[in-house]
Amino acid sequence: MRAVLGVGGGIAAYKAAELVRALQKRGHDVQVVMTRAAQEFVQPLTFAALTGRKVVTGLFSQTGAEDTLSSAVEHIAVAQENDLLVVAPATADLLAKFAYGLADDFLTTLYLAFTGKVVLAPAMNNAMWEHPATRANLEILRQRGCSVVEPDEGWLACGTIGAGRLPDPERIAGTVDSVMRHKKDLTGETILMTAGPTQEALDPVRYISNRSSGKMGYAIAQAAAERGARVVLISGPVSLAAPLGVELVSVRTAQEMRQAVLEHLEESTIIIKTAAVADYYVAHVPQQKLKKTATRLSLELDPTPDILAEIGQRKGDRLLIGFAAETENLLEEARRKMISKRCDMLVGNLVNRDGLGFESDQNEVEIITRSGQTVHAGPSEKKEVAERILDQIATLRLSLRAVDTVDTPA
Ligand code: PMT
Repeated sequence: MRAVLGVGGGIAAYKAAELVRALQKRGHDVQVVMTRAAQEFVQPLTFAALTGRKVVTGLFSQTGAEDTLSSAVEHIAVAQENDLLVVAPATADLLAKFAYGLADDFLTTLYLAFTGKVVLAPAMNNAMWEHPATRANLEILRQRGCSVVEPDEGWLACGTIGAGRLPDPERIAGTVDSVMRHKKDLTGETILMTAGPTQEALDPVRYISNRSSGKMGYAIAQAAAERGARVVLISGPVSLAAPLGVELVSVRTAQEMRQAVLEHLEESTIIIKTAAVADYYVAHVPQQKLKKTATRLSLELDPTPDILAEIGQRKGDRLLIGFAAETENLLEEARRKMISKRCDMLVGNLVNRDGLGFESDQNEVEIITRSGQTVHAGPSEKKEVAERILDQIATLRLSLRAVDTVDTPA
């Protein structure tokens, strides 16, 4: 496997040398690209000696710099020749440039031209790591499919203790391995997904909704597309970027979500319903804003259509995967919903714990099937949980196909 290692300008740049070794041990042929700032911390010669290859140090050839092989179009060649781009240490500056598409040196230009897998290993001061700007940039990059190896906690070069240390090179190399092993086991499937909340109008300016951010559903959609599926994502209002390679249909209400799901049902082979659909809506929304009065306001709510239950009735041989957000009796409620809504699999999610479930980046779920199997996933990043859910779906698909083959004489 051919990998580019982009070395950013941080004190942890020296650890990138160990990462070269860890990647080589795993059979990767490594080409190193260094930013100008990285060269202030480590000499390109270190990496040239370790890799036996010239190190790319700038966008334009620098006369007299023997180890510079760059040319005006070199980034395109490097982008095309390599399967993987690992950036370590990925500084706050690099993350911001990647997120916003700035291309003012070789590494940032290479990132834009690169179509393979990207693994980012951030390292910086803990305040910079916690800064909302860095968090927002990482979120953009994650949504775009980059894998992020979270930094370690401990003593930082600036003398403080906190999160921000470059992860152990073996851990980064391990992540690279799992990213590269990425299966294409959903090729040929068309997955119809729902994600996010719905909003049900009370009047022209107010609505009922819930805390769903769409992160869980978007992570599954992204991972499924990476595993080869065609993905149609019906999404309620969220503030996430559309996952790469996914067909996004934006809706607002439960009625609109039902309509969009039915329109795409025929073409689908797997349906995954992660959305937190409002259970009630106001059937007759007043034309004018409700006036505030001194007395109590009563609202009359009608049930929304249960999309999952309706699809359960007409799914044919499609795989139907529901979710259940519960605050108690998780397995019991999840089983009840799986049976009553005729799902093949159900993902049970306990949603009353801090840092898991709604809105957060992490989740922990129980994946149950009709055959009585229960698989636990998490607590971990939603991207990781998404992969475990898809593993179970791919396995169930395979086992059902095997049964079909046995049942159908040649
Ligand atoms: O979006 P995040 O912030 O990342 O949070 C993720 C999540 C907590 C929303 C997600 O993991 C989750 O648990 N989704 C299910 C939320 C939910 O509404 O659960 P429920 O138990 O109320 O509904 C059961 C199932 O019926 C769900 O698949 C739901 O999509 C479906 N449903 C519910 C009501 C309705 N009118 N129509 C439906 O199709």
